[in-house]
Amino acid sequence: PADETAPAAGTAPATPAAPTLFDWEFATDPYPAYAWLREHSPVHRTRLPSGVEAWLVTRYADAKQALADQRLSKNPVHHAEPAHAKGKTGIPGERKAELMTHLLNIDPPDHTRLRRLVSKAFTPGRVAEFTPRVQELTDHLIDGFAGKGEADLIHEFAFPLPIYAICEMLGVPREDQDDFRDWAGMMIRHGGGPRGGVARSVKQMRTYLVELIHRKRDDLGDDLISGLIRASDHGEHLTENEAAAMAFILLFAGFETTVNLIGNGLHSLFAHPGQRRRLQDSLAAGESDLLATAVEELLRYDGPVELATWRFATRPLTLGGQSIAAGDPVLVVLAAADRDPARFAEPDTLDLARRDNQHLGYGHGIHYCLGAPLARLEGRTALATLLTRLPDLELAVDPDELRWRGGLIMRGLRTLPVRFTPR
Ligand code: HEM
Repeated sequence: PADETAPAAGTAPATPAAPTLFDWEFATDPYPAYAWLREHSPVHRTRLPSGVEAWLVTRYADAKQALADQRLSKNPVHHAEPAHAKGKTGIPGERKAELMTHLLNIDPPDHTRLRRLVSKAFTPGRVAEFTPRVQELTDHLIDGFAGKGEADLIHEFAFPLPIYAICEMLGVPREDQDDFRDWAGMMIRHGGGPRGGVARSVKQMRTYLVELIHRKRDDLGDDLISGLIRASDHGEHLTENEAAAMAFILLFAGFETTVNLIGNGLHSLFAHPGQRRRLQDSLAAGESDLLATAVEELLRYDGPVELATWRFATRPLTLGGQSIAAGDPVLVVLAAADRDPARFAEPDTLDLARRDNQHLGYGHGIHYCLGAPLARLEGRTALATLLTRLPDLELAVDPDELRWRGGLIMRGLRTLPVRFTPR
């Protein structure tokens, strides 16, 4: 049959219209739109739902370059948006809240100093020591619903696990951890915008963290907050405000991301029963190789962070052939870069055993995810334990009925209803 999309002889090929971004359909499946952008407008200027104009970078090579480009600042002071719009754009950090002086809003040399200090406290070794505790937390949460034969894995599992894990690492006493669960719930439901409930939750969290830091200073333990207080570099310490902002970003950066790693990861496994069976067989045989590559592939295939956090051009630059003016916001679309056929063989295929998998799900360059070792530990433990303890776990609704929470930065499921044989 004739190809109806082929241009008539002698006319220039028509470029199809740009897809609609940020609507309901896009939140459900953004990948066709990303494929279009990569091909037709790889560095694409768009108006975000907040009204801010920004560039979207969707090809792998451009994305990697942008993430490492020092001309792109993380500091919102470089945003050229007219003053009257400031504070209304939803760009985190435009409000001068004290907790906002954190790693994701600053550049070298401040970033270098703070990152070096926190790296002394938040080490891969500390995460490795935490392995048995993550297993206990995981088992405890599964115990809570294993007898019911059904559960919403977002609310009963993926949501509480990272909150309890990071609270324990920081040294938040058990009796206070449910407060964090409430505050985090408020933030995930309503996003980072300056609305009442969220602002109140951030304030309460800050007050709590500052008090906790005070208490720990007099009674240092071997938790992460004590580690942050103790960490020094050339005689320099974190100020109290810096320590509170650091604890806050560890909570904030490590929370919704991990919820969505577990939720999106399970969703991908449910949609690929053959791959899932392979993973379950390998877990049953006591192997861990496939589990390790699987978590990386789930991150590449449908990772929790769609767009890396904001960057702002400090001077004019060219990216992917596009001129970007000083003051323009640039958003690197990690989810699009990680499906780029120029970098990944069969990018739209889920291959849990994929070896050549240098995905950008954790970012790249100086802001590369500090919590990647903890995220991997939680992701592996959560998926392996669920699939081992509840082997016949399945979706309890039609996949089309699932609803996605499409924020600007994060994408994940609102609920994940499942059923299984009660244990
Ligand atoms: C930075 C992804 C879990 C702490 C980042 C960035 C990405 C990312 C893409 C870079 C953002 C940018 O360049 O704009 C993820 C994913 C996770 C995860 C996909 C889970 C699957 C965690 C956890 C923690 C954490 C568990 C801590 C407990 C951080 C911090 C930064 C960061 C502190 C800022 C680092 C810096 O600016 O130097 N993460 N993250 N993340 N992440 Fe994660």
